[in-house]
Amino acid sequence: MKYESITLEIQDGIALLVINRPKQLNALNQATLTEFSAAIDELAANDSVRVVMITGSGDRAFVAGADIREFEAIKHASDGTRLSQQAHAVFQKVVDLPKPVIAAINGFALGGGLELALACDIRLAADTATLGLPEITLGIMPGWGGTTRLTRILGPGLTKLFVFGGERLSATDAQAAGIVERVYPAKDLMNEARALATRLAGLPPLALAAAKQSINRSHDMSLADANQHESLLFGQLCVTEDAREGARAFVEKRPAVWKGR
Ligand code: COA
Repeated sequence: MKYESITLEIQDGIALLVINRPKQLNALNQATLTEFSAAIDELAANDSVRVVMITGSGDRAFVAGADIREFEAIKHASDGTRLSQQAHAVFQKVVDLPKPVIAAINGFALGGGLELALACDIRLAADTATLGLPEITLGIMPGWGGTTRLTRILGPGLTKLFVFGGERLSATDAQAAGIVERVYPAKDLMNEARALATRLAGLPPLALAAAKQSINRSHDMSLADANQHESLLFGQLCVTEDAREGARAFVEKRPAVWKGR
């Protein structure tokens, strides 16, 4: 598919998806969200893609949120609900993608931009990045996973402090709070993201996919159910060719050759 407001490059098992509306600080309008969704479908269907990196075009923004200019077209509560549900469905595709997804936060990650990053598996940020959920200051609230996913990271009290105030955090403060995993000098961010992606692309894909699923699903289950689910996934992995190869390579003191089977 040809995209207009995103770019997608695939090389050596790594997909780089760039939100490409730099003049609007990569704000996600309907058209971009639709293209983004199609791109995730494309990446899901492409077995050669092992790892996905998501970033924003230019050096100012990852994504500055939903496109506020489209809000005026919302006339009924059901329109707003539909917009929220649509974004939830798209971001859930990122969560369910059986491959690691790295958000390289290269600038403003506000509103829907932070919510997109929260749907990714690992968040790396430039030291110049700014993160926030400023929706309250627009008379609305986060509606693309901000109140839900962030609460699972920060707990309700800190999330309320953050959402009620609509304030912005520096990358370093976001890291201290556990919202981003690593912070790098802005000039190094993409190299660091690619280095991580390269490392992950060289690891057994079925094991990575199962680990992602187990970690994600454990949030929604009791500990006992989550452990049961982990056992099932673990069992399935134990009989893969990659698991046999991993053990054999260890004993033979050689690097493993992963087949994804
Ligand atoms: N939706 C639509 N357009 C946006 C946008 C958004 N979320 N965020 C930025 N833009 C546009 C601006 O309207 C401006 O367009 P213009 O040049 O045609 O006027 C352009 O991007 C540059 O933004 P500007 O505000 O001039 O840059 P700045 O450096 O002064 O401020 C921000 C940067 C990110 C602080 C500011 O743009 C902002 O607060 N954006 C909205 C963030 C937000 O509330 N997101 C949640 C939405 S639910």
